[in-house]
Amino acid sequence: MTELLTRATGVSTDRIDGYVKVTGAATYAYEYPIANIAYVCPVQSTIAAGRIISIDTSSAAAVPGVLAVLTHHNAPRLQEVKPVPPRFIDVEVEALQTDEVTYRGQFVAAVVADSLEAAQEAAHLVEVKYEQYQHSVTLRADDDRLFQPARVFSGDPADTTTGDINRALASASVLIDATYTTPTQHHNPMEPHATIAIWSGDELTLYDSNQGPHAIRGALAIAFGLPIERIRVISPYIGGGFGAKVLPHPHLTLTAMAAQVAGRPVKLALTRQQMFAIAGYRTPTIQRVRVGADHSGTLTALAHDVVEQTSLRHEFAQHTAVASRMLYAVPNLATTHRLARLHVPYPTTMRGPGEAPGLFALESAIDELAAACGVDPVQLRIRNMPHADPASGLPFSSHGLVECLREGAHRFGWQHRAPRRDGRWLIGSGVAASTYPVMTWPATAVIRVDHTGEFHVSIGASDIGTGARTVLTQIAADALDQPIHRVHVHLGDTTLPFASPAAGATGTASWGSAIVAAARIMHARLTELDGVIPAEGVEVRGEIQGNPHDGHYSMHSFGAQFAEVRVDTDTAEVRVARLVGVFAVGRIINPKTARSQLVGGMIMGLSTALHEASILDTYYGDYLNDNLADYHIAVNADIQDIDVSWIDEHDLHINPMGVKGIGEVGIVGTAAAIANAVAHATGIRVRDLPILPDRLLAAER
Ligand code: MOS
Repeated sequence: MTELLTRATGVSTDRIDGYVKVTGAATYAYEYPIANIAYVCPVQSTIAAGRIISIDTSSAAAVPGVLAVLTHHNAPRLQEVKPVPPRFIDVEVEALQTDEVTYRGQFVAAVVADSLEAAQEAAHLVEVKYEQYQHSVTLRADDDRLFQPARVFSGDPADTTTGDINRALASASVLIDATYTTPTQHHNPMEPHATIAIWSGDELTLYDSNQGPHAIRGALAIAFGLPIERIRVISPYIGGGFGAKVLPHPHLTLTAMAAQVAGRPVKLALTRQQMFAIAGYRTPTIQRVRVGADHSGTLTALAHDVVEQTSLRHEFAQHTAVASRMLYAVPNLATTHRLARLHVPYPTTMRGPGEAPGLFALESAIDELAAACGVDPVQLRIRNMPHADPASGLPFSSHGLVECLREGAHRFGWQHRAPRRDGRWLIGSGVAASTYPVMTWPATAVIRVDHTGEFHVSIGASDIGTGARTVLTQIAADALDQPIHRVHVHLGDTTLPFASPAAGATGTASWGSAIVAAARIMHARLTELDGVIPAEGVEVRGEIQGNPHDGHYSMHSFGAQFAEVRVDTDTAEVRVARLVGVFAVGRIINPKTARSQLVGGMIMGLSTALHEASILDTYYGDYLNDNLADYHIAVNADIQDIDVSWIDEHDLHINPMGVKGIGEVGIVGTAAAIANAVAHATGIRVRDLPILPDRLLAAER
């Protein structure tokens, strides 16, 4: 493969959209000035399971300014959106289609009004009477209704087995058998899910906050029985997503139905509280890990059994144990996923879906094993590196984990890691591995050069705050052999060519590949024209369906995470004094935005380790801490020294740019590194996240 130029790429270019964002000139979904706009305010169920007996809308309808009150009796009928091949993604987009209530917070009615205030006031006056059923909202490993999903979200089988796991576990010289739990987490992007719906005849336009305008359009087209061309989604600026805005949610259909009924444009921004029920979350997990080794720490057996939840109507099976299938060479390996169907909101992808909670459990167990074997945890990991992907048997296109571990140990000062005491603080260190797959998804780019020599790159991709707009401009500039100021990238609109969503850490690789493909055609065209651009300009299209090396190589990002923690012996407060992350993520297009992605992932991992949990009230089946005051996330005061770096990695199999994804690998492993450091400092192993002081005090030594 020809090497690309490296004039624009590899440089810490400032964000191209930084100025418009910090000056407020960038327009977000809710902010579009639309004439004659109306507002929709949802009414949510106050029970988790049951049936609506009656809805009295008369008081609500009498509020001045109210245009319509929607219930399951009068709402437009939607088509059922069934999970469709090839990826069998099951989405929840229906709203007000049934009298059945399957989770607390489900939309049961909605008021459309002239003003937000009138809609909110009237929504409070809608009287819903229910027949309440016994609900089931607690995830339990011994629930006899657990079932095996047909496949997990990554597309992999739910269960795998290699070798003779039971015999290998029974005969292991050293065995760890431990259960780890991770809580429900909510993404809480700064910008809430927001949408404006405008109908013109049977054409629907949405200004919407999402991670991929093309991705959400498909399900809406099915729901409304429209060809996709009749729906336009406009989403140039997005205030974060973390996975909550990849798949469509019921607020989209609700807003579009409200606009249909009112005969006017309608807008909706979910409140933070509404997002807890409507916008997805990370499933809680119960993970039993059994890992056996000989006395030198060479793995002989690994079993990773996962229990997690989905909602009553839709199936989301997080691929929690999938990374355990490929991280280490182990001859006897078994993994399972079991799901509970509960009266809870529908879970979804959240940064490092599967990998992040899965490697908390695996990498904690590996640390426990290292301690039991008396082998250094870095050495134990290096000793068990696979030569080919154990899951697929394929060679790795590149495998930087050992180098990350060695480089991280060096940067961290791992050889000086003996636990120590500083006044009332206990100090310890931990390490964990990180990995995330490198996937390439379909994308198309159109490049147009006008007669003045300005290049316009159009791709229906999404910059959710990652820096994608900037990085794609850099890639296009080098691929076109143009200075960066001549290249203009247009994103975030379904009128632009099809592109996969900003998800799965696939953006730069997939969209960049399409841009490079288009740029190569542009080069050929301009060469034919002897560099003379005709008055009408030149337009070319480049398209990729995937990576031609898919199925021939196993492609993954890797990383090594190191943590130093200080634990207060009086209060059991944990402070993370230092994090060191070294990553093998291919070529870095923009060190500044890349560092921000990786630091952001590690901070989210720290947040996972110490703070984040959505607390479910089992009596009502609702989240108690559905706001940013009570849902704790890491803040500036929690963050001390974070050192991020990457190794030089030239992988020509992944894509012409040599880039791997960096959006998710940063969060994977961080929580385990911190939990391992806490155990190192205190001798106390906390297996349930987050590591709160009361858990540390209550845990057995
Ligand atoms: Mo990522 S959880 O696929 O946005």
